[in-house]
Amino acid sequence: MDPISILKGKRIVLGVTGSIAVYKAVDLASKLTQAGALVDVVMTAAAREFVMPLAFQAVTGRVVYTDLWHAESGDGLPTHIAHVGLGEGADLFAIIPATANTLAKLAAGLADDLISVTALANRAPLMVAPAMDGGMYSHEATQANIATLLSRRVTLIEPEIGRMASGLEGRGRLPETSQLMGEIRRALGKSGALKGRRVVVTAGGTQEPIDPVRYITNRSSGKQGYAIAQAAVDAGAEVVLISTVDLPIPVGVQLQPVRSADDMLRVTTAQAALSDALIMAAAVADFTPEVVAEHKIKKQDGQSGLALELKRTADILGEISAHKQEQPRVTVGFSAESQDLLDNAQSKLMRKGLDFIVANDISAADAGFAVDDNRVVVLTRAGERVEYPLQSKTAVAEMIVGRVAGLLAAQG
Ligand code: CTP
Repeated sequence: MDPISILKGKRIVLGVTGSIAVYKAVDLASKLTQAGALVDVVMTAAAREFVMPLAFQAVTGRVVYTDLWHAESGDGLPTHIAHVGLGEGADLFAIIPATANTLAKLAAGLADDLISVTALANRAPLMVAPAMDGGMYSHEATQANIATLLSRRVTLIEPEIGRMASGLEGRGRLPETSQLMGEIRRALGKSGALKGRRVVVTAGGTQEPIDPVRYITNRSSGKQGYAIAQAAVDAGAEVVLISTVDLPIPVGVQLQPVRSADDMLRVTTAQAALSDALIMAAAVADFTPEVVAEHKIKKQDGQSGLALELKRTADILGEISAHKQEQPRVTVGFSAESQDLLDNAQSKLMRKGLDFIVANDISAADAGFAVDDNRVVVLTRAGERVEYPLQSKTAVAEMIVGRVAGLLAAQG
């Protein structure tokens, strides 16, 4: 797993309590560490019945805390102050999985093990991910404890519905690691540079229908748009992603699926009017079939070809820029070119009235459509031109989001 900027150098205290889902917490601790976080694991005695502390120590490379009463040997904090020291300077205290027993202790303010004591001493944001039998989760005692925790602004990761260890179906399963990572990213990003901002991102190539089973599209994978949506969540924004493709949806993103340029025009115009920024990473078709056949087009005996008449689509960015009132306050476009990159990008920047445009040469084999890297040049309305080296679409996304945050901050 590649480093993740929002997790890099962040200190996460991971409280692990006694549920069969402990094995998923080992994977989570591993992924967080690989992404660059410093993960201090605290385990209850019940958690240690399922997994040895050594498993967490091996994946985090750090001391695992288990005991309130005995001093740790090695490099860890002596545990007589661990309950204070662990929480101090932590960016997040995440209890994953959290049992019914631990939720009850947290709600009541009990302090009889290292996790519950740390929870009281700690001033970092607290997150809990309950995992238990469905009947225990839905029990009114557990629900009342959760309501108490929510009233104290604890972040709850709702368990999923599915098959439980007991063989029964119910709500109580710990979500998969990718979901947990997304929730942690969102929690850490909450106070980022786009806090309180609403950002609309479009992604993917539009699909222009010919008949009920066929359409015209292009090679855009949508990866750059999804990376921008994730970077905007990491920066604390509320994010609406208008997409034609089926990629994993970043946690915290509100997805609006669309297909054609016409759909995208309608949804994007409505969303952009309610938002601070519009980032148009979608590859919108410039032409669409004049008529969509009602039934599947059948070939005829002896027919040598088929002519399709196409008509122009609306320029989504151009129309939104031309007609916008107060919002969106910042508009960003992409310019995918196979020749005359800078001239074409410059004319689109002006014609579409954008704050900046991200130009990339799609004829290069190592960058652009359908690959994980991109080499871009940014041209701004203010006349700036910055050439970036070949870098991941994630890095490009963070650069774009950083610029949007800067422009919004400058507008006040
Ligand atoms: N775009 C749009 N609506 C369209 C076409 C493009 O909003 N109908 C947006 C794209 O999402 C991108 C920017 O405009 O952010 C430039 O797209 P591009 O396809 O490179 O340019 P076009 O406007 O299609 O111009 P050309 O035909 O000259 O390439």
